[in-house]
Amino acid sequence: MTDSWQQHEFDVVVIGGGGAGLRASLAVAQAGLRVAVVSKVHPLRSHTVSAQGGITAAMANNGDDDWRWHMYDTVKGSDWLGDQDAIEFMCRHAADAVYELEHMGLLFSRLPDGRIYQRQFGGQTRHFGGEQAARTCAAADRTGHALLHTLYQQNLRAGTAFFDEYFALDLLTTVDGQVCGIAALELATGRRHAFAAGQTVLATGGGGRLFRHSTNAHINTGDGLGMVLRAGLPVQDMEFWQFHPTGLPGSGSLISEAVRGEGGYLVNANGERFMQRYAPHAGDLASRDVVARAIALEIHAGRGLGPHADYVHLKLDHLGDRLIRERLPGIRDLAIRFAGVDPARDPVPVVPTAHYMMGGIPVSLCGEVLAPHPVAGLYAVGECACVSVHGANRLGGNSLLDLVVFGRATGQRLVEAAQHTSAVARPSADSLAAVTERLEVWQEPGEGNLADLRQRLQQTVQKHCGVFRTADWLAEGLHVLTQLEEEQRRIGLQDHSRVFNLERMEALELDNLFLLARATLVCALARTESRGAHTREDYPDRDDRVWLKHSLYRLGQSMPDYKPVNLQPVDTAAIQPVSRTY
Ligand code: FUM
Repeated sequence: MTDSWQQHEFDVVVIGGGGAGLRASLAVAQAGLRVAVVSKVHPLRSHTVSAQGGITAAMANNGDDDWRWHMYDTVKGSDWLGDQDAIEFMCRHAADAVYELEHMGLLFSRLPDGRIYQRQFGGQTRHFGGEQAARTCAAADRTGHALLHTLYQQNLRAGTAFFDEYFALDLLTTVDGQVCGIAALELATGRRHAFAAGQTVLATGGGGRLFRHSTNAHINTGDGLGMVLRAGLPVQDMEFWQFHPTGLPGSGSLISEAVRGEGGYLVNANGERFMQRYAPHAGDLASRDVVARAIALEIHAGRGLGPHADYVHLKLDHLGDRLIRERLPGIRDLAIRFAGVDPARDPVPVVPTAHYMMGGIPVSLCGEVLAPHPVAGLYAVGECACVSVHGANRLGGNSLLDLVVFGRATGQRLVEAAQHTSAVARPSADSLAAVTERLEVWQEPGEGNLADLRQRLQQTVQKHCGVFRTADWLAEGLHVLTQLEEEQRRIGLQDHSRVFNLERMEALELDNLFLLARATLVCALARTESRGAHTREDYPDRDDRVWLKHSLYRLGQSMPDYKPVNLQPVDTAAIQPVSRTY
């Protein structure tokens, strides 16, 4: 059985070559350990590359700031579902993490005096809810691109081994059931690879391709979550998906919050700056959930624009061509290419678009997967993990920060753990046989069309679990999902040539998307309150008495389990829940 698997052995294997995976692998490689990054695309095509607006850290380069204000904003942004020990850790270590990137060579934009440029982003305040802060460090509007290239180059220098275009299939375990690596498919050849490792890190990114309209790369199919669920482990808070207020209609391309941070604003069909009505204090720079709901309500009330009145306008022509070219060159390019408008002259059409998965694999501050105790040898980091710093709604700029702060903390823990691991354990024959069986399903003849099924799954989740939700809609969504799951069991591949294995990979990704869809709908139906990005029209209020708790979903459950939110930071005062307005 093991003969058909090409064997590899490393101290640490990281699945995913985005910012979080590369930050963790860098720490391991720099410690002189053997580390492999296994990625389904070339690392520089990971979704981190498309992060635009920046990375948030209280560095006070552009006005007073304090990491405790950042912490306050993040807790409030999370609608009190974020764990305060984790938020404290992230905000406290943010400036160090950014300086570290700068010293690695990340080309940040600069203020006239040479310090790192920081711009305004949504939900940022000074003095615990006071005036607008400018806390997001930027490399124009291509910050993720600059960050990913920096980390990749540092990894090359440190000797990380890269396995590009290898699709991770499932976790491997020893005869005692301990995680000891992963199985992967080499896409170019269809060869099977078993990576045995002392420590295994999931850094597979989010699953935003669960939705029909998404800012996410096509690779974001929740692969790490699928692996964890198939291994019988839980995922957390899957009802919380962020809809970015400003995606381009049709293509879904992200139009960065940086546009509003630089002074752009939203208008409806009447030319009204409607955000003043929904968020009198913060206006266009309210938290993303608030802005996305406002846009959806404006469109619903018939104040949308375009032939179908189904988008609003983002105006930035008043910023001037020079500022746009200097600070927002990528946005200018996207608007011209995908919307046919030059933003220095015309408004850009925008609509709320699925953007970020707040939930994920539950982990400790140093990336250990929790179930509820640490699972020996298994870690998760980045968007696939839920530590939980974003709670029910993430603030813009906190995603890149999450990647590097927890990527570094996880890397340090991996180095410590490797010192206590004498020899790398071998995967059991049974564990390899289970993966072989899963692969062989896709060699049987079947019926139906994979791409069509994927599209109908995305449409179902988009329709039944969008910005606004109700029990009836969610239950109906689950009903449709059950029918689609039936179809999936019968589906087969059209192209058996196995040249580059793209269709096979899409079939395997679809397994993961189906698991994510069920987790999302089950958790969303169960949570009978509105909190952050989870808006229940039938339960419009937040209910702290019942719902200050995280959802934990395992495969096959029709009702999630729960665990309390940690409202207790380590060194600072707790931020008590109050009503949330902007
Ligand atoms: O709008 C943006 O530039 C996105 C940033 C983020 O999601 O953190």
